[in-house]
This record gives sequence, C-alpha cells and structure tokens, in this order.
Amino acid sequence: MNKKIFGSIVMILTLGACDSSSTSSQTQGSTPPPEKTISTLTGVDVIRPHNVQQIAEGEQLYKQHCVSCHGAKAEGNPEWRKALAEGKYLPPPLNGTGREWHSSRNELHNHIKYGSKFGKGNMPPFQNTLTDEQITSVIAWFQSLWSDQLYAEWLTKHTVGSVFVDEAYKKQ
Ligand code: HEC
Repeated sequence: MNKKIFGSIVMILTLGACDSSSTSSQTQGSTPPPEKTISTLTGVDVIRPHNVQQIAEGEQLYKQHCVSCHGAKAEGNPEWRKALAEGKYLPPPLNGTGREWHSSRNELHNHIKYGSKFGKGNMPPFQNTLTDEQITSVIAWFQSLWSDQLYAEWLTKHTVGSVFVDEAYKKQ
C-alpha cells in the first residue's frame, strides 16, 4: 500500500518535471498545455498532458519521416508480428495496438534516435534528422492516439523520466 502511494507521488513529480521542461521550450504567449487526470482501477490517478502545439508539430514530422513505413494512422504493417529473414521485422503499429506501449519513454525515444537495436532491424536512425525535442513531439503525437486506459497503464508500468540516457544505449 505504502509502495503504491509512493509510486504515484513519484509519477506525478516526474511528470511535472517533464511538463515544465517542455513548456519552457514553447514559443512565448502560448497557453499552458491542458491536461486531465485519469482515475485507474488500481486507485492510482494519472495525469495525462495534451499539448496541442507539440502534438501538431509531431504529426507534421510523422507525416514527413515515418508515415511511409508505419502507415497514415500509425497502424503499422499488418504482418508486423512475422519474423523476416535474419530476425528482422516489418514496421509495427505506434497507435497503441502493437507492442510500443511495452517500451518506456526513454526506450521509444532511443529507438527513434538510434534506429533498430544493435543496428539489426529495419528501422533507420533519426539522430541526424530530428532533434530530441522533435522526437518528443512525434512521441506525443502517436501517444495522443492511445486510449486513456492504455496511456494510464503505460505510465504506471514505466515511471516516466525526463532524462534520456543516450550514451548508455549507444554502448549496448
Ligand atoms: C524504413 C522504414 C521505417 C521508417 C521510415 C521508420 N520506421 Fe520505425 N520501425 C520500422 C521497423 C521495421 C520497426 C520494427 C523493427 C525494430 O523494432 O527495429 C520499427 C520500429 C519502431 C519503433 C519501436 C516500436 C515497438 O513496438 O517497439 C518505434 C517507436 C518507431 N519505429 C518509431 C518510428 C518513428 C517515430 C519514425 C519516424 C521518425 C519511424 N519509426 C520511421 C521501420 C521504420
């Protein structure tokens, strides 16, 4: 019980930290991002941010860089579960119907930044094309497609951190 309460406090604090950092990067005069609280079955309330400007930017970037592989609605390739030769896979959904929600924010971020793990899959790296902020916007866009329930499950599963451990990932 104590652990659960502590977890939710940590979550709200780290989320708050994320929010303030992303807000500070917004252009002046923009309204603060709206957010809503989702009550979950476990009794842990989750705050879901919805930054309209960030999501709109993410959608544009997605259309430019990701749509050709992941599909117009981020639905992925229908055959995404089938292993191809050399253990490679087709692009999976990002709209909440695949396995994307098993990954933490850092893992999603690093997958986009550095491409398929160990350079072995078919996902190209975007580290020379997109800034960290732009990657965050793309994630915000495809996460806006997730249901409240899925978002809440994802957030409680992976306590969101605001620091990306890029160096550690590179060494793997
Ligand atoms: C050339 C095709 C291609 C492009 C372009 C591409 N991806 Fe992918 N992506 C893949 C493939 C294939 C996978 C599955 C293999 C893997 O996990 O590396 C994947 C996996 C992912 C994953 C991991 C999902 C999971 O279920 O673990 C994320 C997140 C992702 N892509 C996001 C993006 C974003 C965001 C963009 C645009 C900035 C993008 N991808 C552009 C092909 C692509």
